[in-house]
Amino acid sequence: MIAETNVQLDNLIFPLFLTEGVNFKNEVTSMPGIYRYSQDTLLKELENCLQLGLNKICLFPAIADEKKDPIASESYNPEGLYTSTIKQIKSTFPEIILMTDVAMDPYSSDGHDGLVRGGEIVNDETLHILGKMALAQARAGADIIGPSDMMDGRVGYIRELLDDEGFSNVSIMSYTAKYASAFYGPFRDALDSAPKNGDKKTYQMNPANKKEAILEAELDFQEGADFLMVKPALAYLDVIKLLSDNFEIPIAAYQVSGEYAMTKAAAQNGWLDGEEIMLETLLSIRRAGASAILTYFAKEFAQWVNKDK
Ligand code: PBG
Repeated sequence: MIAETNVQLDNLIFPLFLTEGVNFKNEVTSMPGIYRYSQDTLLKELENCLQLGLNKICLFPAIADEKKDPIASESYNPEGLYTSTIKQIKSTFPEIILMTDVAMDPYSSDGHDGLVRGGEIVNDETLHILGKMALAQARAGADIIGPSDMMDGRVGYIRELLDDEGFSNVSIMSYTAKYASAFYGPFRDALDSAPKNGDKKTYQMNPANKKEAILEAELDFQEGADFLMVKPALAYLDVIKLLSDNFEIPIAAYQVSGEYAMTKAAAQNGWLDGEEIMLETLLSIRRAGASAILTYFAKEFAQWVNKDK
């Protein structure tokens, strides 16, 4: 009755990892309870999620090395693993709200989110590739496009392209304040997507900055973003609050792989109560002002909600 904040299953989006193969399901070592799925086992897992009332997902692909190249051409292949799986999911389970990932890293032989030339990331040329990727995903049936690449100007570029092609109802959740963070380690292991050279500090944000988050948010807002996301979540609650105090569109937060891994590792050692930490951290992210939370705990939370039913 007196709680000012709550977490509901409807706030949560479940990130899932897709890989090649058939009848394949393999646990990510640093993320207990989280798996890489082939298309068929993924569909079974989605059925389980739906039975628990969890219907919002974000899909990330692990692409075979031989399909990677410097221009990430597999990312806009309409018959590729990712796009064909999106089609399959939306035709099997139309009630699923499917968010996609737009960035070059899973498909790039350089392992960077943008195009690399002479050891540098070339922002404006990357936009053409991101645009083709977003369009291929929208054509396959994506509901929300999630540009996680952090190139400047990509939200406006993608928005215009989607509108021109008749996808004005497809929304954009921009990774607005995405920090260059060590908390992404387990994710890069899961997808084998770590940069081959250098780091991501020329395009992801400096953890020291929050005014810059306002600038990024203003640009994304003007360019037509439907949600502004902060990532990671727990170490950046002040940034979530800042954006939620200053912008009238929904704020999202990504409780990332490292946040999940830390909690699971401590819980497995009996050093923390994993379930309590899940509930408390999710509540803190909501309290800071996020309405949507991407979290690897989404299914576990759904199970917790259903426990006493
Ligand atoms: C890359 C991408 C990353 C995550 C989502 N998209 C990692 C990175 O920037 O290297 C991280 C998610 C997580 O750690 O859970 N485009």
